[in-house]
Amino acid sequence: MTNKDIIFEEKAEIVDQVKFESDQFVTIVKAEKSSQTAKPGQFAFVECGGDTLLRRPLSYLRSSKEDGTVEFMYKTVGQGLESLSQLKKGDAIKIMGPIGNGFTIPSGKESAILIGGGVGIPPVLFMGEEIKETKHGINLVAFFGSEIPFPFETCDSNLDMPGTDLSVNKTIDDMEKLSIPCRLSSQAGYEGCHLGYVTELAKSFIETLSDAEKTETIIYACGPESMLEAVAKLAKEDQLDCVLSLEEYMACAIGGCAGCTVKVLEDGHERMKRVCVDGPVFDAEQLYF
Ligand SMILES: Cc1cc2nc3c(=O)[nH]c(=O)nc-3n(C[C@H](O)[C@H](O)[C@H](O)COP(=O)(O)OP(=O)(O)OC[C@H]3O[C@@H](n4cnc5c(N)ncnc54)[C@H](O)[C@@H]3O)c2cc1C
Ligand code: FES
Repeated sequence: MTNKDIIFEEKAEIVDQVKFESDQFVTIVKAEKSSQTAKPGQFAFVECGGDTLLRRPLSYLRSSKEDGTVEFMYKTVGQGLESLSQLKKGDAIKIMGPIGNGFTIPSGKESAILIGGGVGIPPVLFMGEEIKETKHGINLVAFFGSEIPFPFETCDSNLDMPGTDLSVNKTIDDMEKLSIPCRLSSQAGYEGCHLGYVTELAKSFIETLSDAEKTETIIYACGPESMLEAVAKLAKEDQLDCVLSLEEYMACAIGGCAGCTVKVLEDGHERMKRVCVDGPVFDAEQLYF
């Protein structure tokens, strides 16, 4: 059975809404069916309530088979997510998911670099948790960038990460619980964050790897297109395998409207692929920016 075969349409119930600075939210939803199969990098097409007719695509931040819940993290940029953020505990919405291919772990990889920018952080955070929990024995490091305050508590950490020179050693609390070394970057000058781009942190870490280690390493990334382009360039220069999760505007999210198509290189030929059902995760080498 492929991912395309197990998309559920279900009535879900808001369990909690947690608000963070700069209109960022984590919404926890009871969704018994999709919570059983949702994978990192997959997304749900979420009814937002209010006057919003079209649903909005949101990546899973987390899913719990035991609790039957899924979580989303978002910033309210427009009417849809603003309406979603206003829903209260017990309110019902319809969600469709899990959609898309998601991240996978290819054989032969011993290390993974997680790179997330802004609202692209949720799927890579979920991937980090998944790799840790399923105990694939893969070494992990994470780099996150944001130009608004990070929607997590940050805290001092003793986790050591070679190649990143920061006077204050900070990490995202979820990463610390999982013992995943993590560094943050921002152009906004937040304390403990590298002042600059997230790819600069990743580059300084990659420079510490031997050629053999590079072949055993894969990059998982999601974020704004400019960040993904920089990540793809970095991976190409250092010959690292790299997969990127794309975000496109979506009208149907089930492959029917072709509104989300992007040009990709496949078997030496240019082809149009739908981000919703053929992606949202693609090999960096396949993509044009
Ligand atoms: C697979 C996937 C996963 C995603 N995961 C997340 C996530 O985890 N968290 C998160 O915060 N966001 C995520 N997004 C992005 C989110 O779905 C969009 O930003 C969504 O449009 C926001 O809805 P809104 O109603 O709040 O804003 P919208 O009303 O959709 O507007 C958002 C912004 O985009 C502009 N805009 C609207 N429509 C178009 C258009 N057709 N073309 C160009 N610009 C347009 C608006 O002017 C506005 O500035 C994801 C998107 C995809 C495809
Ligand atoms: S959103 Fe309709 S085909 Fe992808």
